[in-house]
Amino acid sequence: MSEKKFNRTLVTAALPYANGGVHIGHLAGVYVPSDIYVRYLRLKRRDVLFICGSDEHGVPVTIRARKEGCSVQEVVDRYHHLIKDSFEGFGISFDIYSRTTSATHRQVASDFFRTLYDKGEFLERESEQYYDEEAKTFLADRYITGECPHCHNPQAYGDQCEKCGKDLSPTELINPESKVSGSKPVLRKTKHWYLPLDKHQAWLQPWIESHPEWRPNVSGQCKSWFDMGLQPRAVSRDLDWGIPVPVEGAEGKVLYVWFDAPIGYISNTKELLPDSWEKWWKSDDTRLIHFIGKDNIVFHCIVFPAMLKAEGSFILPDNVPSNEFLNLEDDKISTSRNWAVWLHEYLQEFPGKQDVMRYVLTANAPETKDNNFTWADFQARNNNELVAVYGNFVNRALQLTQKYYDGIVPAAGTLTESDLAAIEEFKGVKAEVERLLEAFRFRDAQKEAMNLARIGNKYLADAEPWKVIKTDPERVKTILNLSLQLVANLAIAFEPFLPFSSARLREMIAMPAVEWDRLGALDLLAAGTQLGTPELLFEKIEDDAIAAQLQKLADIKKQNEAENHRANPVKEDIDFATFEKLDIRVGTIRHCERVPKMKKLLRFDIADGLENRTIVSGIAQHYEPEQLIGRQVCFIANLPPRTFKNGLVSEGMILSALNADGTLSVITPDRAVLPGSEVG
Ligand code: MF3
Ligand code: ZN
Repeated sequence: MSEKKFNRTLVTAALPYANGGVHIGHLAGVYVPSDIYVRYLRLKRRDVLFICGSDEHGVPVTIRARKEGCSVQEVVDRYHHLIKDSFEGFGISFDIYSRTTSATHRQVASDFFRTLYDKGEFLERESEQYYDEEAKTFLADRYITGECPHCHNPQAYGDQCEKCGKDLSPTELINPESKVSGSKPVLRKTKHWYLPLDKHQAWLQPWIESHPEWRPNVSGQCKSWFDMGLQPRAVSRDLDWGIPVPVEGAEGKVLYVWFDAPIGYISNTKELLPDSWEKWWKSDDTRLIHFIGKDNIVFHCIVFPAMLKAEGSFILPDNVPSNEFLNLEDDKISTSRNWAVWLHEYLQEFPGKQDVMRYVLTANAPETKDNNFTWADFQARNNNELVAVYGNFVNRALQLTQKYYDGIVPAAGTLTESDLAAIEEFKGVKAEVERLLEAFRFRDAQKEAMNLARIGNKYLADAEPWKVIKTDPERVKTILNLSLQLVANLAIAFEPFLPFSSARLREMIAMPAVEWDRLGALDLLAAGTQLGTPELLFEKIEDDAIAAQLQKLADIKKQNEAENHRANPVKEDIDFATFEKLDIRVGTIRHCERVPKMKKLLRFDIADGLENRTIVSGIAQHYEPEQLIGRQVCFIANLPPRTFKNGLVSEGMILSALNADGTLSVITPDRAVLPGSEVG
């Protein structure tokens, strides 16, 4: 943080597109870290607001509507509620979760544009843009695809290539194609308003350079934009879904989604606090923090600040903590390919385990590089860390107190050397967790909190109260008092990270309030306090639950492969006479058996309506002989006999279809026919 004196913190989390549910990538990248941060600030009793909402304009939602065959309004309504409920389910504690189709937002965004327009902050320019003559519409952004000029990915979008990550404009695409009708678009003249970012570079660059504390991925991306030289950026589009451009002669034009969406942070604040929102956006003593994913960096560090500056009365962000991406089982998370762990599904499949996912995503947060989520790691972190370290320590301390003292906190006696050593070890935890959280280093901060549990576990294991009780019962009171103080400290330290578990734990130890500033204290639980009933804080996750998730992903992969499958090109033409020479017939399998020492071969005895014949076929890895006996198959009847090494002779070839995954399927007539029937 800079040296400035701030009196309040305004935290925003990127507005997710209402074109699908939210998944673990969203959670890990933006919403869990911002929620931890905000919970921490609230515990520190700082004045804080946490703002979010759905991003309901733009091409992603209209494409979704087209795909689902319903209206755009239906799409955004459905996903807005799904997303909102998912966030609530995971305890993401927004002060407001609104939407960019709200009346307030429409007004605020429209006024914002108008102010800039009236101040002469835009360029008005005519240019040639792609137009779909069949669908009678201009093709903005994702409505157009084509070959990327950089990496030659044939499926790059009009605004970005997802393969190489480069930003594009539709006119750069090689062989452009309309996503709406599939037709080849033509160029047409159209007028748009542009934000002259080139003029803003002169202050943007030194401003970002004055924030050396920003994450290197963020300043690095900005630097590369500056190095290329900023260009004017269009802030309007020819679309029929969005906020109309509030200017005469702008029929059929709406605000570009990336112009209106970040203004959503402002509108949602205004919706929450109609009378005092300006204090949050227009006072120098407000610290504005944007939590985003790395694909949003340029919009939050360059475009939106330029808009705010051009308007003139708003503050700029003090930091823009942005995460890299989370992959899922070594593959890029993708809404369109359904390659994701959806939050609404997780909440149903793992009820009560929101904190497990929060923990795993923070432990594995993609803070400095892309990271990978695997179900095996999820299980291991739950079983070996939450259950075996945190849960185990809490459970032992509470169960022993229950057993020896009926759940009443015993008084501590004189502290021994080992007690003092344990205390010494955990003394620094509060300062360290705070330092790391203030620096947005959430995974290290959580590790530090976990360290408290490790210290506690080791302390109990070394002190062995279950043995000492037989020889020195007084000493056990001190051991358990100290252990219970550690347990109470854990409930505080984990409060920002694992709010559900902390609340349950506080219930078990009869500590209703969380006083963050007492983290580190050794008198959190007074002697004589009656504790609640001890329960398991975390449960082991069994192999079958993990196997079910992996199966689900395997099914999705298979389905995607089927959807994207393209058959091999057709062979060279033959003439009809050649075809007619081929004699394909149906035979009934009288007998079938494996061929000794030949792994791949099955030997068939086939009824062919004549003398019957033997056919040897290399399909032993795909069928058991018993499965085939009695069935009818198609075979080529007029091939020369083929002799195998072991002397076996095959009098024909059984026809089968080769599936893309390498499996084989024999061709069987749809209805039984007489053996020897000709196929043609
Ligand atoms: N909807 C965008 C995305 O999912 C993020 C918008 S953030 C805001 O990538 F700036 F518009 F709010
Ligand atoms: Zn590319």
